[in-house]
Amino acid sequence: MLNETYRAMLGHKSVIRETFMYGKQRAAEIGYENVFDYSLGNPSVPCPDKFTKAMQTLLAEEEPVALHGYCPSQGDPGFRTAVAAHLAKTFGLPYEQKDIFPTTGAAGAIAHAIRAVTKPGDEVLTFAPYFPEYGPYVEGTGAVLKVVPPQAPAFQPNLDAFEEMLTENVTCVLINTPNNPTGLLPERGLLEAIAQRCRALNISLILDEAFLDFIPDQPGFIPLLAQHPHVWVLRSLTKFYAIPGLRLGYLLNADAQAVARLRARQMPWSINAYAALAGEIILQDRAYQRATWQWLQEEGARFYAQLQEMAGLTVWPGRANYLFLRCDRADFDLQYALLRQHVLIRSCANYPGLDSRYFRVAIRSAEENDQLLAALRRVLA
Ligand SMILES: Cc1ncc(COP(=O)(O)O)c(C=O)c1O
Repeated sequence: MLNETYRAMLGHKSVIRETFMYGKQRAAEIGYENVFDYSLGNPSVPCPDKFTKAMQTLLAEEEPVALHGYCPSQGDPGFRTAVAAHLAKTFGLPYEQKDIFPTTGAAGAIAHAIRAVTKPGDEVLTFAPYFPEYGPYVEGTGAVLKVVPPQAPAFQPNLDAFEEMLTENVTCVLINTPNNPTGLLPERGLLEAIAQRCRALNISLILDEAFLDFIPDQPGFIPLLAQHPHVWVLRSLTKFYAIPGLRLGYLLNADAQAVARLRARQMPWSINAYAALAGEIILQDRAYQRATWQWLQEEGARFYAQLQEMAGLTVWPGRANYLFLRCDRADFDLQYALLRQHVLIRSCANYPGLDSRYFRVAIRSAEENDQLLAALRRVLA
């Protein structure tokens, strides 16, 4: 029999999974080439070729018993060394293997971080709009998620409302930067003010930087961690390196003992051997990193400019690999109109703090983005 809390969690519909499944079903009916999915459930670019080639070689040459055998149980040391080297190179900081807590993507990192800093019944504050899966991640630890209301149209954290919600039950604040779905970065001053306030009140701050690798000019909070032991930063490799199925990420905190305690409680074999191998290879792939940054800078700017010119839409200047839109036509169901053209976009109606006027679209290749632009022009004409 299912535990009732778990049953309720499973009962929440996932718009993204439903859209993704609908796309797959339609593609099976009318052909993959005829369905255009901008809802961003899966990456639209391949992961670094070097990893695919390494896997091909391993599958062809390695002995299967060894290849599919057990790997070190607490996240491959090779992966942790690779992350430490990557951070040392990127930020000039003396990271070591022991400082890295490997996780199954950002999802695993959030769940671990919340468990590390709360006990059942504690309150976790986050700012709307926020990634809806924060609900189940927080509930799964027994803590309670409380939401600071959004401030449209800037969608920056509302400090006054935050201050009012800071009761003594709050032990953790969770912020996503850049934000999903808006793609916006919280202003530096606001983030630092929140970090200082958390520090003064002995509240842990978890920064979900799952998409930050897309923005090379934004170092995020990692360079500041040494001065902020109450801050946990998580990064994901699933987004930037297009490996969501492999599940890979990591969590950082300046307190080595806190990281060691977390590691002692981690379930064995959390990271699988292929994910760990991927991490070792892709973190060093400078050519892939540069090409992705260049594509997003050029194509992201072009796509944004074209969307901005479209009557009936408001678009925000997000910095991640997606853009956030509002359809300003009254009584018009943009998602349905596009579905009829076999174009899938992500409705943000289930994002707390938003409604059915808001959407998120993936930034893809110039040709694919043009197809979405053409479909939008048709349905908005
Ligand atoms: C803001 C945010 N955090 C975390 C995650 C989970 O990412 P991962 O696939 O790395 O677990 C997502 C996934 O979409 C996300 O949007």
